[in-house]
Amino acid sequence: MRTQVAIIGAGPAGLLLGQLLHKAGIDNIILERQSAAHVLGRIRAGVLEQVAVNLLDECGVGARMHREGLVHQGIELLFAGQRHRIDLHGLTGGKSVTVYGQTEVTHDLMDARQAEGLVTVYETGDTVSLHDFDGARPKVRYVRDGRTHEIECDFIAGCDGFHGVCRASAPAAVLKTYEKVYPFGWLGLLADVPPLSHELIYANTGRGFALCSMRSPSRSRYYVQVPLQDKVEDWSDEAFWNELRARLDPAACERLVTGPSIEKSIAPLRSFVAEPMRFGRLFLAGDAAHIVPPTGAKGLNLAATDVKYLSNAFIEYYRERSDRGIDHYSEVCLRRIWKAERFSWWFTSLMHKFPDTGEFGQKVQEAELDYLVNSRAASTSLAENYVGLPL
Ligand code: APR
Ligand code: PHB
Repeated sequence: MRTQVAIIGAGPAGLLLGQLLHKAGIDNIILERQSAAHVLGRIRAGVLEQVAVNLLDECGVGARMHREGLVHQGIELLFAGQRHRIDLHGLTGGKSVTVYGQTEVTHDLMDARQAEGLVTVYETGDTVSLHDFDGARPKVRYVRDGRTHEIECDFIAGCDGFHGVCRASAPAAVLKTYEKVYPFGWLGLLADVPPLSHELIYANTGRGFALCSMRSPSRSRYYVQVPLQDKVEDWSDEAFWNELRARLDPAACERLVTGPSIEKSIAPLRSFVAEPMRFGRLFLAGDAAHIVPPTGAKGLNLAATDVKYLSNAFIEYYRERSDRGIDHYSEVCLRRIWKAERFSWWFTSLMHKFPDTGEFGQKVQEAELDYLVNSRAASTSLAENYVGLPL
């Protein structure tokens, strides 16, 4: 088999790249370790910056997002028992975010790919291997039905997430990684109950962080910070709702509608960056190259912007025979990635209870939050980062 770009991973990064390349007439094949149903079963964040919204439109898959997505012009910060609104729209000259689940984004992209008849090979398991990407004729091999298949390509796009094969295939002598692991996780619960408020609430409390989010007017997503050792089996729905209530203000508690969980899981929090993002003809994009803690929901948005830069680079290569975009890909992405890393780390540090900082740490966070909501400059900085920095 031969293709122009072999894409590893059918998460949002791989699917979005496949669609953008196809629109530009660039042939691509996607190889995915899991089944499509498994990929769609993963519950991830759901806040889209305008840049991501525009990209989905560009791919021609924006219709359902515009119909069902919820446009949010503000967020609320809860601390010291009081809620304060950050007017994202007013502070950023009219910008907003769109609340639309990553599962839905993935669904829309998969449907579009299938409708166009593009090749996606699912369930490759751990058989994918990369070859000769340091030369002009890279190859990707995988095993399916007991047979080894080989794809010859011009480029390999590593969109295979944090645990994928692509970053692991990069030469160790060139790869440098930066990592910070946080001493807590997020216990998330999805339920078919109306959201407690029409905007997201981020809460800093003496018991730890909480987040009230949503997927639709009838489906809510809530999170509470938990110790890393906690097991999801030890958290009954009732225990979750009680803990969430204990972290909310009385008015919010009164509005909270509870119900049986559809999904419940614990995710650890990590900041991670791999540099560079290009190794010859292998390019990393999305979670394969970087992870942010979920506070601020930058993960999907960063994946989308990497893919935007990467598709532009490939288009420039094929249309103009120019290596310029390819040569600058890593540097251009990393400038934006480090800004989102900084923001996600800062927002995480401000909102969570850290085991080693005690009551002093709590007071300092509350002082910073008090400054943040009362200073237009500080609120603007939060708002600008939250809605997404310009490309
Ligand atoms: N071979 C083929 N596919 C693989 C392999 C492999 N060896 N390893 C991983 N994959 C697949 C995974 O099964 C997954 O479907 O690559 C895909 C990577 O998808 P994501 O993890 O969703 O990563 P990405 O597409 O970069 O999306 C970034 O996802 O994790 C969130 O916060 C993140 O929202 C952001 C978004
Ligand atoms: C979510 O809805 O899952 C979500 C929203 C905002 C965040 C993180 C997660 O900052």
